[in-house]
Amino acid sequence: MPIKNKTLGEFIIENQSQFKYSEGELSRLINSIRLAAKVVNHEVNKAGLVDILGQAGEVNIQGEAQQKLDVYANEKFIHALTRREIVCGIASEEEEDFIRIEGNNNTNKYVVLMDPLDGSSNIDVNVSVGTIFSIYRRVTPVGSPVQLEDFLQKGSEQVAAGYIVYGTSTMLVYTTGHGVNGFTLNPAIGTFYLSHPNLKFPERGNIYSINEGYYQHFPQGVKDYLKYCQEEKEDRPYKARYIGSLVSDFHRNMLKGGIYIYPTSSKNPQGKLRLLYECNPMAFLAEQAGAKASDGYKRIMAIKPTALHQRVPFFCGSNEMVSDAERMMAKYPEDSKY
Ligand code: AHG
Ligand code: MN
Ligand code: MN
Repeated sequence: MPIKNKTLGEFIIENQSQFKYSEGELSRLINSIRLAAKVVNHEVNKAGLVDILGQAGEVNIQGEAQQKLDVYANEKFIHALTRREIVCGIASEEEEDFIRIEGNNNTNKYVVLMDPLDGSSNIDVNVSVGTIFSIYRRVTPVGSPVQLEDFLQKGSEQVAAGYIVYGTSTMLVYTTGHGVNGFTLNPAIGTFYLSHPNLKFPERGNIYSINEGYYQHFPQGVKDYLKYCQEEKEDRPYKARYIGSLVSDFHRNMLKGGIYIYPTSSKNPQGKLRLLYECNPMAFLAEQAGAKASDGYKRIMAIKPTALHQRVPFFCGSNEMVSDAERMMAKYPEDSKY
């Protein structure tokens, strides 16, 4: 059978033996994410029908209360993840505290961290949004209540991570540490097909993605790198492309080659993106796709988290481009003022 006809379901079963310690649990977990992705996709695609179905907060013609999509996505993913006795805890960008899940016999081994709807400011204007997820094995004993330390693991401990991009087509892209594979949803029959096997970032590209509106507030190393991107050279100036949905910007840069930067600034002294829900999963995917993710000075996945909603500066993309940016950052001390 040609590889492009393989479904996500078949792919998961075929690759189950790669997980040393898992008796099909991780496969079932990915399956539940697949299911929630389809449900959220359906809702995201209705978002343009506000005049017909009603705004968030209103009651629609079926008499159902309309929810904000990020709240909706959060609920759907939590629902899908809690029902299968695999996950013992969930942390979400939308929840202040982590959620404990007590299974029947408490043998659940995995924790999931997620950004249920990334790029939420783009929903109203029909621009792609996404979901990001990150999976770890718990570190506290199986059978005991899950603890904060189960969530505050370094990114390098992730066993799987991925995203769904609800775009011109809907894709699920994920890694379990054996490369990155992308699956495209055929909406007519509700099945994901392997469309992008073994994804790799080009070593260098010609796209830079950053919210340059904050230029005056950036550290000097970032300003230097932006001037470098804009210089007139054989392969420059680079193209500026910024969607404002990390998932979509990352996805494009992986396919075409590029760098995404969300630095610290005098407005966001810690950066804006969340280490656990956004940066670590994207960093795992980037490294598995032959690329790099850094806070400007060091590897993202080596950072020991100290809080659930911790923010970090994020430089992610084609290897050589992130290395160029790091070289320019290294000229200034990490705690230098803007
Ligand atoms: P979220 O919608 O989950 O809050 O995340 C938005 C993030 C990220 O996806 C995007 O790249 C960035 O915030 C955009 O921020 P700015 O508007 O400050 O550029
Ligand atoms: Mn986000
Ligand atoms: Mn979000």
